[in-house]
Amino acid sequence: MMIEVGELTREVGATAARAIEDELDWEHLPHVHAFAFASVTLNRADRNGWDANVLLRDGQAMRMTVVIDPDRMGYINATFDADGTENGRTVCRITAGQGDHCTMRLRFFVPDRPNLDNAAVGKFYSDMWGRLIDEDEPKMIHRTRALKEGARLHKERRQVTLADGTVRDVPLVCPHQGLPLDCEPDSDGVMICPWHGYRFDARTGRCLSGQIKGWKQLT
Ligand code: FES
Ligand SMILES: [Fe+2]
Repeated sequence: MMIEVGELTREVGATAARAIEDELDWEHLPHVHAFAFASVTLNRADRNGWDANVLLRDGQAMRMTVVIDPDRMGYINATFDADGTENGRTVCRITAGQGDHCTMRLRFFVPDRPNLDNAAVGKFYSDMWGRLIDEDEPKMIHRTRALKEGARLHKERRQVTLADGTVRDVPLVCPHQGLPLDCEPDSDGVMICPWHGYRFDARTGRCLSGQIKGWKQLT
């Protein structure tokens, strides 16, 4: 039996649609939330949720599932031990706010075990999700801008200098989701986007990790 051990209510500066989009975005976990996740290997995903094997920074491996509520104003995020036993569940409901704002209410559940320190476990979940949302909120705000400004944003360029001294024009935002491409080329001219870890050749714009084509050279 699962028992409730805590909750967290957070207002964020983005709509419920952006909060749901972020929860569906399994790929960002080891990049945006590197404090908690070492890697994620997807089993299945669609617009209503996903199922993946995650490796936590502390070395713990578990399965994680996300199921979006039918009204797309909430979700259930659950984690499972290797034997399939559910070891934690976060239930989120979202209330729309004014403009680009919403309020997320998260409730935390764990299996009822003898001598469980409910308050300590509740605080652990609340602190962890508080940090996850702190890291997600800028991403949601950047996504709002990317969706509003779309094409114009993708044409903006800045210059980077490669190891051999040549200067190249690279986009301000990543061709994947229009989030800021806030990274510099390494000694091989490779740029690794901080949001999902896609790798780009700064000389050609080609996506070296292969998920997308890359950016268009404007010059
Ligand atoms: S925004 Fe996803 S890899 Fe850059
Ligand atoms: Fe996130």
